[in-house]
Amino acid sequence: MERFSIPTTVCFGPGALEVLGELAGQRVLVVTDAFLARSGLLDKVLAQLAGCTAETFTDVVPDPPLEVVARGVRKVEDFQPDALVAFGGGSALDCAKAMAHFSTLHPPLWAIPTTAGTGSEVTAFAVLTDTQNGVKYPLVEDSLLPQLAVLDPSFLDGVPPAVTADTGMDVLTHAAEAWVATGATPYSDALAEKAFTLAWENLPAAFAGPGEARANMLLAANLAGLAFNAAGLGLCHGLAHTLGGRYHIPHGRLNALLLPHVIRFNAGVEAAGRKYGRLAGACGLSPTWRALVFGLERLRSRLKLPARLTACGVEGKALRADEAAIAAGVLADRCTPANPRPVTAEDVALLLKELV
Ligand SMILES: [Fe+2]
Repeated sequence: MERFSIPTTVCFGPGALEVLGELAGQRVLVVTDAFLARSGLLDKVLAQLAGCTAETFTDVVPDPPLEVVARGVRKVEDFQPDALVAFGGGSALDCAKAMAHFSTLHPPLWAIPTTAGTGSEVTAFAVLTDTQNGVKYPLVEDSLLPQLAVLDPSFLDGVPPAVTADTGMDVLTHAAEAWVATGATPYSDALAEKAFTLAWENLPAAFAGPGEARANMLLAANLAGLAFNAAGLGLCHGLAHTLGGRYHIPHGRLNALLLPHVIRFNAGVEAAGRKYGRLAGACGLSPTWRALVFGLERLRSRLKLPARLTACGVEGKALRADEAAIAAGVLADRCTPANPRPVTAEDVALLLKELV
């Protein structure tokens, strides 16, 4: 028997933010970063919480370190909120999830993404960073699932093109990994295919500037989140977490660099190769896994993203010296086991050689 469920309620479309009014009368802690707090966007959220006793925690930083989560947990214990509202990119959402998880209260979480990337607003995943050891830990617990997600595309208007490119490639990677993951089912396939084609069609225009394409990317990110939450991810995310924790490269940028190599590797499993071909066909490309690889490489250069780790400041020599530790990190990562082709330390070493 297999199960499929979508526990998070998703509110989307014009006026979606007004759903926050339903928290009236409650104690609400808003979790966000200092940039959003200063930008005036936080005021739009607080205006909808006018009927609440609201406080803010604005200490979130990219790749949330365990120390920040610990500070957030203390804030939850002190303020005793009835609900958390996470407002920001994947880092704010993941930090709030961890705060709810590690506090004694476990308050319900409402999530408002301001980037079209992680899909964290509908997943049981939260990625935390142990800065001292240079390791990213994906926490995976059903209790991390937000109760409600608010998709308001107006928050994406001010996102810089480079961030749109990074986060958009993360969306395509979530969909492509879920599509062939060991946990894939007809339900996750429907979500992954729609997420991938929607992001494929809209990412170039979203990169160019605000508008309808960015609203579509927000939906694609959400659909991809639902897909991988059900099916799992794979080697690309195992590598991205390990290399990202060690070399501090943005998550989506790393995925953009890694995904073509991982598709080539996975295509060694015939069923996965065929399935990638179907995805290429759904995007109007020739229906082969090679066409998908070339298409992703073309898109990556169109979005001005690097094709090699050396272009991200990682030297080949450093990579070789770290090889054994990276392989161990990839094999221990929670995402790697869902990969359609089993991965060995030797496979990781060979892949690393292709990346410099
Ligand atoms: Fe990701």
